[in-house]
Amino acid sequence: MSKALNDFRLKLAGKEYVPIFVGGMGVDISTAELALEAARLGGIGHISDAMVPTVSDRRFKTNYVQEKQKKYKFNIGNVDKSLVQFDLERLAEAQKLFVSRTMDSKKGDGAIFINCMEKLTMNSPRDTLQTRLLAAMDAGIDGITLSAGLHLGSMELMKDHPRFRDVMIGVIVSSLRALRPFLKRAAKFERLPDYITVEGPLAGGHLGFGADDWHEYSLKKIVNEILNYLNENDLNIPVVPAGGIFTGTDGVEFLESGASAVQVATRFTVTEECGLPEKTKHHYLEAVEEDIIVNTISPTGYPMRMLRQSPGIADGIRPNCEAFGYILDNSGHCQYVDAYNRELDKNEGKISVQDKTCLCTQFRKFRIWTVKITRSNFRKQKPPLLLKFLLLLHN
Ligand SMILES: Cc1cc2nc3c(=O)[nH]c(=O)nc-3n(C[C@H](O)[C@H](O)[C@H](O)COP(=O)(O)O)c2cc1C
Repeated sequence: MSKALNDFRLKLAGKEYVPIFVGGMGVDISTAELALEAARLGGIGHISDAMVPTVSDRRFKTNYVQEKQKKYKFNIGNVDKSLVQFDLERLAEAQKLFVSRTMDSKKGDGAIFINCMEKLTMNSPRDTLQTRLLAAMDAGIDGITLSAGLHLGSMELMKDHPRFRDVMIGVIVSSLRALRPFLKRAAKFERLPDYITVEGPLAGGHLGFGADDWHEYSLKKIVNEILNYLNENDLNIPVVPAGGIFTGTDGVEFLESGASAVQVATRFTVTEECGLPEKTKHHYLEAVEEDIIVNTISPTGYPMRMLRQSPGIADGIRPNCEAFGYILDNSGHCQYVDAYNRELDKNEGKISVQDKTCLCTQFRKFRIWTVKITRSNFRKQKPPLLLKFLLLLHN
């Protein structure tokens, strides 16, 4: 008889779990409710700290966004955004509130992790990332997944925290080439990751591959390379493939060839607990293969896979870095701000920015619909409108 996902168990830091991670999806698409349900059923659920002050305002009626906007109102017409800094105390406060409220509601044998993206540079990459990491540990998160970036400095940012050795820490990579330097730096602090998530070319969200050659890569091949490398170096670290895994059968294939769990995201976008608006969930449900494109409109510089119907594509909305500003780099630049100002110089009427999108505003409003490639799209499946792990476990 063929195996099902729940014939396998994930062993992580001395505990056993259902071998499914619900992938982190910002901004509050993988909600606390979705993560909690995954944990209740014995798996791993991710919340995401993307735009956490905004998430906190929505959930807990705090006032972080307005406060920041008010403080920097004088700068709205200024092309230079370098002055617009996050207040680190406020950022820590928002992160702690979000994480602690989530952890307080946790039931069951699973775990809640938080997805922390390095590419969320927030006009001060090192300090804002450190603030988010430390605050998540302070607030009792079970694990931290380091994503969207190489994270070569992230272990160092956490090393003095009392929970540095007991919180679970994982990293997302898309190649052995990206993994090697991370492990080298982690070894310096005698703190290897507890798991390695390998995100392949078919993943939803940003891709760790080139916009022109992503289709030449295979998740299976990358996972095997990483498994062999770990084996050759006597490193016993669970490997978690992600990207394009839609059914239990997809997952079992990976588990039979040496992976310890699978990470799945797109499949859960149509669940009741997912944070997307109902209307958007229906767009996901209706999507067919031809609707999916990979483009370079993300100002992070990474290619992104999305539905071509996403209303955030080619929109010319005014940047709102004074309120948000999550993609501003170390010197206050964002590729969308540059593209917007270029169009503003050319046009007087309504602006359309074709080559970049305002990730902050568009993601906040759920107007970029990022997905995996749908080998078997939702319509061929019974849509799991209530998160049913078991459904995934058995088909
Ligand atoms: C709607 C959506 C939003 C996502 N947002 C993020 C994010 O904010 N940060 C991140 O690191 N990964 C993000 N991802 C990637 C997922 O965490 C996951 O690794 C990947 O989508 C797995 O592939 P799958 O969607 O084919 O299952 C997102 C994926 C989707 C579908």
